[in-house]
Amino acid sequence: GVLRWMWRATYLSVLGGLVYTGYGIWVMRNPNDQPDPDPSKKTLVILGTGWGAVSLLKKLDTENYNVVVVSPRNYFLFTPLLPSCTTGTIEHRSIMEPIRNFLRHKKAAVKFYEAEATKIDYQKKVVYISDKSEIKGNSSATQVPFDMLVVGVGAENATFGIPGVRENALFLKEVGDAQAIRKRIMDCCETATFKDQSQDEIRRLLHMVVVGGGPTGVEFAGELQDFFNDDLKKWIPDIKSNFHVTLVEALPNVLPMFSKQLIEYTEKTFKEETITIRTKTMVKNVTDKYIEAESVGPDGKKVLEKIPFGLLVWATGNALRPVVKDLMMQIPAQKDSRRGLAVNEYLVVKGTESIWAVGDCAVANYAPTAQVAAQEGAFLARLFNQMAKTEEIDQELKKLSAAQETAPNKETRDQVFTEIKELQKRLRRVKQMGPFEYSHQGSLAYIGSEKAVADISWLTGNFATGGTLTYFFWQSAYLSMCFSTRNRILVILDWAKAKIFGRDVSRE
Ligand code: FAD
Ligand code: NAI
Repeated sequence: GVLRWMWRATYLSVLGGLVYTGYGIWVMRNPNDQPDPDPSKKTLVILGTGWGAVSLLKKLDTENYNVVVVSPRNYFLFTPLLPSCTTGTIEHRSIMEPIRNFLRHKKAAVKFYEAEATKIDYQKKVVYISDKSEIKGNSSATQVPFDMLVVGVGAENATFGIPGVRENALFLKEVGDAQAIRKRIMDCCETATFKDQSQDEIRRLLHMVVVGGGPTGVEFAGELQDFFNDDLKKWIPDIKSNFHVTLVEALPNVLPMFSKQLIEYTEKTFKEETITIRTKTMVKNVTDKYIEAESVGPDGKKVLEKIPFGLLVWATGNALRPVVKDLMMQIPAQKDSRRGLAVNEYLVVKGTESIWAVGDCAVANYAPTAQVAAQEGAFLARLFNQMAKTEEIDQELKKLSAAQETAPNKETRDQVFTEIKELQKRLRRVKQMGPFEYSHQGSLAYIGSEKAVADISWLTGNFATGGTLTYFFWQSAYLSMCFSTRNRILVILDWAKAKIFGRDVSRE
């Protein structure tokens, strides 16, 4: 009896779940008609389709503004899983969400221009945009005027002006970077096994060097070693004894933002995985075949050594984009800001009135992470929704005040007076919005061999953990953070595919 009921309940809940997901997919594929953007409303221009901009767009009531989005990328990219795309554990399209699909579901239509903002003229209130894609039409550079502007253009890769980096290293920021790395790994492996290759050349080609021991460098090194252990050495046994991953970091340890215990755990795990960590080693020069790195020798003297590589991945953090640098130079209040647009507690760019900044291009005393960018974007959505409501109430109040003056008798006047009082109360409530406050949920990073590290913030304090269980937590946390159900399903399928068949070692 009880078992049968339990079985029925399970059956019904699975069926319910399937119907619910099916309905969700149907709704996703069949968007309703949208009203056109209303040009009589204030024009809100949003630059970027990354974490900050998209989380703002997600929660923004688009019918309140004439919304225009400008970005050279017509998709959102779930960056936390990008290191997994470099080895084919995850296919890149599984973590991309077309911005068109997403915008098509907003209440009122949003204009999207696939272009780069090349200059922001904050006094004239215009953004100059340029189509940098392969196909250009008659019109490929123009201006977009704005009443309100949100800058969410992110950051570019820092190279600190070190010679040879741009020419010889690969970065890990965009989809194209991950694809280039994947191709290069396979090219190095195939070239290393070419007929009559010398031993030194084999060793160089199979030396995979990662510069930067922040989370990007660490996660990539872990993924790459997994690729070698799980797949490469099986399919290309010839590379077995020479394939090697080295992580180079200028500071005394990797993952400086994690707790000491997790840093030690990561370093220990890397040692077991046979990844070499070279801390206190600063790269000074890069050529096509080796890096020159400075470290302190046993005698306390500085030594400059040449480290040959086949693949070099450069992950030394963020630098300002030119469009942001240019805007900062136009605003006297930004004179002392170095790392990005200085913003106030409402994310308004200091020295301006109608420009806001979110994410990696803004400096609000938080780390440049997706977590911060997403919370800032959501905050701005609330702020803009509230501003629109305030304006609506203000308009109504104006109308009521006029009606009160022309009211034919005392009774009507009193009635209007009561309505005004009510509205004023509502206005006060709506206007009560505190400044932006970041709530840190914790830091998570994958370190290879199905292990992850996590510094999690609880109500009562911090909690540090590392290992295989943390890896399952990492997997479920990232799955739940994926942009859409479609992304989630694709990522699960990719994980399953890699487990069942192994990763694909074709060089493409
Ligand atoms: P982005 O998400 O970089 O978006 C910037 C947008 O602006 C893009 O759409 C870009 O195309 C567009 N753009 C660029 N130039 C212009 C222009 N001139 N005009 C208009 N648009 C422009 N953070 C975490 O919290 N957890 C993680 O696990 C994590 N993992 C990461 C893994 C990797 C490999 C990387 C590279 C980063 C990771 N981060 C992570 C950091 C996180 O991705 C960034 O902090 C986050 O993307 C910042 O969001 P953003 O909106 O400021 O910028
Ligand atoms: P980062 O700024 O965190 O780390 C870069 C590292 O490179 C630093 O430790 C620095 O000392 C080192 N470095 C700089 N120049 C060097 C040189 N010449 N030689 C050797 N080492 C050098 O950069 P990263 O990892 O790209 O991350 C950028 C941002 O994205 C960070 O805020 C990070 O927290 C976030 N992120 C978060 C992830 C996560 O939470 N799992 C994953 C990836 C990124």
